[in-house]
Amino acid sequence: MKNVIVVGTQWGDEGKGKIVDAITSDYDIVARFQGGPNAGHTIEFNGNKHVLHTIPSGIFNEKSINIIGNGVVIDPGIFLKEIEGLDKYKIDLRKKLYISKRAHIILPTHKLIDATSEASKGKKKIGSTLKGIGPTYMDKTGRNGIRVGDIVNDSWQQKYSYLKEKHLNIISNFNESVDISLDELEKDFIKGIESLKTFELIDSENYLNNSLEEGKKILAEGAQGSLLDIDFGTYPYVTSSNTTAAGACSGLGVPPNKIKKIIGIFKAYTTRVGSGPFPTELFNTIGDKIRETGHEYGATTGRDRRCGWLDLVALKYTVQINGATELNIMKSDVLSSIGKLNVCTSYLIDNKETKNFPYDIKSKEIIPQYIEFDGWDQDITQVKNEDDLPKELIDYINFIESFVGVPVKLISVGPDRAQTIFRSIWNQIKY
Ligand code: GDP
Ligand code: IMO
Ligand code: MG
Repeated sequence: MKNVIVVGTQWGDEGKGKIVDAITSDYDIVARFQGGPNAGHTIEFNGNKHVLHTIPSGIFNEKSINIIGNGVVIDPGIFLKEIEGLDKYKIDLRKKLYISKRAHIILPTHKLIDATSEASKGKKKIGSTLKGIGPTYMDKTGRNGIRVGDIVNDSWQQKYSYLKEKHLNIISNFNESVDISLDELEKDFIKGIESLKTFELIDSENYLNNSLEEGKKILAEGAQGSLLDIDFGTYPYVTSSNTTAAGACSGLGVPPNKIKKIIGIFKAYTTRVGSGPFPTELFNTIGDKIRETGHEYGATTGRDRRCGWLDLVALKYTVQINGATELNIMKSDVLSSIGKLNVCTSYLIDNKETKNFPYDIKSKEIIPQYIEFDGWDQDITQVKNEDDLPKELIDYINFIESFVGVPVKLISVGPDRAQTIFRSIWNQIKY
């Protein structure tokens, strides 16, 4: 049993795409289990740089089958553009990419509702990617949605017309107008539906469980990050799905007892895109330097990512709720030459110190308590062996391991697939 779940443990964009691509040759199947095109997973190899939104990050591996699972929401128009964007790689996509019939479809009017609803919130907006994610999951849980399996039968169009009218009614109740053309969205949508139909639409839960019986190995790829989880994230500034490890079981139909490893991906610092609380956010030149050096601009929306110090209170919380068995530290190269580094180990709330991630992170003032670490100046982007990394970085990692109680088994020192150090030994210091 070597099945693995890969999840982001912060607010997304931790580098999940890079890791899934880097380790995918160990797996037969890579399956996305939640989210939709709000995700942007960047992969770099052999001078190519590619951002995936709905398609799993195992797609560049010759061997693996890729599955878009039942928990994912698909925008047919964006899906078609993604398919076209992969043309140059000459991948036989129809042999390598299967789609769950149970996955829900994002309709053009879902995107309109998203945009109108956000506009109506003014300063309180979530900072959504406006891809229609929330409204689509609302129709899923409201038992109104259209699923991929429906499109093979033309009667889905009646359901579409009904939902469209209903959505336009909802939109008319907001006192907002948004500058989006429904006609244009619908054109892309219809083309996208036709493209989706040319793919293998499967009962992915059967496929995956049969594959497990045959001894195949599955990698479940999460999107977003644990602090954006609908239940455990910084609600309401979250996305609309369970981004944590448990979401892989419901989003794929793979039972929990089939999972061996849960890899938590985290950056050596913290970023967040969109609104919402972020206790360790930096509003100074250090934050700007991290953004510039780390190219911290959204892979999906191009927005500036907010940057801050590593928050171990939050990381310990997300390690717990995911049951992470190991961690991968990303973008440690970005911290080279930053100077002294701060790591948050507790919060001061109402003059009380806590190491727990609070329910009410929104309205209370949270004063992060930091421990200072020596930085390093060495460029580490070409380092291949852990022994050649600066001692200060290893001290930093050792502290993280001892604080959260989980080993850091991989150190990423650059965006390319090759800039990845698999650690042969690690210190697991219990504290
Ligand atoms: P994801 O959504 O978790 O897959 O992450 P994104 O692709 O949205 O953002 C991560 C960004 O960091 C991408 O531009 C990656 O190419 C880049 N990246 C990943 N790992 C590293 C690393 O170790 N160092 C640097 N400098 N960049 C990295
Ligand atoms: P990946 O998979 C970072 C954020 C949005 C917004 C909130 C809700 O690339 O890590 P939504 O569009 O879901 O209604 O937006 O969640 N968000 C992400 N932030 N990475 C992502 O995905 C994100 N997907 C959504 O910015 O704050
Ligand atoms: Mg991303």
